[in-house]
Amino acid sequence: MKIVAFGASPSKKSINKKLATYTASLFENCEVEVLDLNDFLMPIFSVDAEEGIGQHALAQSFLDKMASADFLVVSLAENNGNFSSAFKNIFDWCTRIQKEVFQGKPMLLMATSPGGRGGATVLAIAEAAFPRFGTEVKATFSLPNFDANFDTEKGHISNPQIDLELKAIVRELQR
Ligand SMILES: Cc1cc2nc3c(=O)[nH]c(=O)nc-3n(C[C@H](O)[C@H](O)[C@H](O)COP(=O)(O)O)c2cc1C
Repeated sequence: MKIVAFGASPSKKSINKKLATYTASLFENCEVEVLDLNDFLMPIFSVDAEEGIGQHALAQSFLDKMASADFLVVSLAENNGNFSSAFKNIFDWCTRIQKEVFQGKPMLLMATSPGGRGGATVLAIAEAAFPRFGTEVKATFSLPNFDANFDTEKGHISNPQIDLELKAIVRELQR
């Protein structure tokens, strides 16, 4: 079983990438590939840009990564209550090749932020929208107050209660 994980953020220090990486590591007996959105950055999508470029090769390569997965672990950065511009842009380019961006792959959908709501707004948006793009959201998880609840040095959730909750979700997904 192959897990493809990514933080939906282009930040080099992305806390969502950290959470997605940690979460993917909790799955037993799986190959894990963690994507970096910086490998898929394209010009801002517009029909005019598309006229010049056509289907963008990096969008196809993102779609190929989705196709290679048996299971997706996605953690969304929240910017002004919505997706990061970088993720939305990749997503838009991908949908012009294939509307079913996630190609039927099931997903653990997460979000984290430094604030107390833990990206709950973007998480709700994606939970409602993503099934129309070819995924079944099997579970959701929000990590609030990232700095207080995640040990960046060690790369894991430092709040034992929250860590148990996430591990229980992963265990259930692997049953
Ligand atoms: C333009 C901008 C808008 C933001 N809006 C929100 C927001 O609506 N809700 C929130 O919880 N955090 C917000 N933040 C803080 C982000 O959650 C924080 O930068 C976080 O590190 C983003 O995740 P990332 O590190 O994976 O990119 C915002 C940050 C920026 C730069």
